[in-house]
Amino acid sequence: MKGVVLELLGRCARDAFGEQAWQRAIAQAGLAEPFDQQRTYPDAEFNALVAAVATERGIGIDDAQRWFGESAVAHFHAMAPHLFDQHQDSWSFLLTLNDIIHPQVRRDFPGASAPDFGFDANEAGELVMTYHSQRRMCAFAEGLILASMRHYDDPPELRHVRCMHRGDPHCEFVLTALQT
Ligand code: HEM
Repeated sequence: MKGVVLELLGRCARDAFGEQAWQRAIAQAGLAEPFDQQRTYPDAEFNALVAAVATERGIGIDDAQRWFGESAVAHFHAMAPHLFDQHQDSWSFLLTLNDIIHPQVRRDFPGASAPDFGFDANEAGELVMTYHSQRRMCAFAEGLILASMRHYDDPPELRHVRCMHRGDPHCEFVLTALQT
């Protein structure tokens, strides 16, 4: 995982829990700041940091990942407002993940491995997003999607109907149809 993500985790944790809690978390994970934005850190180190934040807060790993995803969107917006501001709703924004947002990430951070999502509409007019990654960070994805929905004042409603952690080949999120 690129250092920019560890740095972002630090910003979110400091904002939410304070400097001391964050310092305890990085010490527990055996890491030290500053993180190098461009360096690729082993996933084990990133996971240790998330686990340390979870321990610090007394929550599970999935909840910590979801919290990080929910917190990250405001920072992504501050870093790259143009990626958000041309859209009127969350679906239009999310639909640019594969073609615009993550390709931009791979250009800015060579070696980054951001995931591609599958997009489809079901018979009920809901948006079905599929996620697959060896990192299996679906709780992080869920938090990012929910916060993206909130960013556009869309109701933050989704169902996580398939999950790699439950033995499915990929994760599937069903986003409730937007009011038109
Ligand atoms: C402007 C918005 C966004 C930016 C700038 C951004 C940027 C990034 C970056 C830098 C990484 C780390 C890649 C690496 O270190 O190898 C990443 C990973 C990831 N991104 Fe995005 N992202 C954005 C929006 C989203 C949204 C809305 C989702 C919603 C699902 C998403 C899902 C993920 C996931 C799940 C990962 C973890 C990597 C993995 O699954 O293997 N991102 N993104």
